[in-house]
Amino acid sequence: MAMENLKHFLAALSAAGAAGFVAIIFVLRWVLHFKEGLAWDGGLAEFNWHPVLIVTGFIFLQGIAIIVYRLPWTWQCSKLMMKFIHAGLNLAAFIFAVISMVAVFDFHNAAKIPNMYSLHSWLGLTAVILYGLQLVLGVGLYLIPVAPVSWRAAFMPIHVYSGLFLFTSVIAVALMGITEKLIFGLSNPKYKDSPPEAIFVNVLGVLLVVFGALILWIATRTSWKRPADQILHSLHTNRGGEDNSKVGPALSELGDGANAEPDGDVRKRTSKSES
Ligand code: HEM
Ligand code: HEM
Repeated sequence: MAMENLKHFLAALSAAGAAGFVAIIFVLRWVLHFKEGLAWDGGLAEFNWHPVLIVTGFIFLQGIAIIVYRLPWTWQCSKLMMKFIHAGLNLAAFIFAVISMVAVFDFHNAAKIPNMYSLHSWLGLTAVILYGLQLVLGVGLYLIPVAPVSWRAAFMPIHVYSGLFLFTSVIAVALMGITEKLIFGLSNPKYKDSPPEAIFVNVLGVLLVVFGALILWIATRTSWKRPADQILHSLHTNRGGEDNSKVGPALSELGDGANAEPDGDVRKRTSKSES
């Protein structure tokens, strides 16, 4: 990656990391300071696991999983290793989401609140189910070598689109959940009276939007893509060594070349066998 390009990447990455980190601090302070804290007792403290696990797992971890191929210092790792990391982080995000579902259903059942009445719950459960499907298809297509290479290539644009669509939907569903909770939970003063908790949690919502916007930006820049493995191999061979430290300079040369979008070009030529 050319130097200027790398600087822009690092700026976007740090901003995303900071927004995500502060969002996690905010959701923890919300439930621990303004709300009933965390417990597994069928009460409101059990409900509180719902937003905490969603923000830390389903949003933050998923965001990191999506951009993990884009980190330049991982480009010397094998593609297989990066697939395990991408799949593992997505699996962790899924597990967090499932536990957060258990917490809210358990709370509803204990408090005799009806299940699945809200638009938030319909879209939320759908997102979790589709995310599970995306995970299974991802493993089947790209991790275990059963699918023909032509299928891998054909499904990649769908995988990327549905991954980004799910990530965006999850953030939208979380914003609905936050709004519901503020309307239900605040009385005397009410949400419309803007008590400190309302302002604080509105800011949490804004942070989630900023985090989402930055992850989507990073994941859609062609010039920040991981170069295809074949190119790395040929660069090694051309330079006559297996030393990984050669990858860095070789890649930056690629980036400095005449082609304005070297990685995009590289992918076009090799994407069939690469994904
Ligand atoms: C309830 C999913 C994020 C607040 C529910 C229910 C589901 C769900 C399926 C229904 C539980 C039942 O019917 O027993 C999700 C998903 C989220 C998410 C997939 C991730 C994007 C959030 C966040 C909050 C929140 C961040 C913020 C506090 C609520 C509230 C309820 C609820 C207040 C109870 C009222 C209702 O059923 O709509 N959520 N949720 N949710 N969720 Fe979420
Ligand atoms: C790429 C999402 C599971 C393999 C991507 C991208 C997204 C995404 C958004 C585009 C990233 C980029 O362009 O930099 C997801 C989601 C998953 C999931 C939300 C889980 C619900 C999996 C699994 C595998 C996998 C289990 C199996 C190894 C890949 C591969 C790429 C990819 C090979 C292409 C990387 C590249 O362009 O170099 N995924 N993914 N994904 N994903 Fe997934």
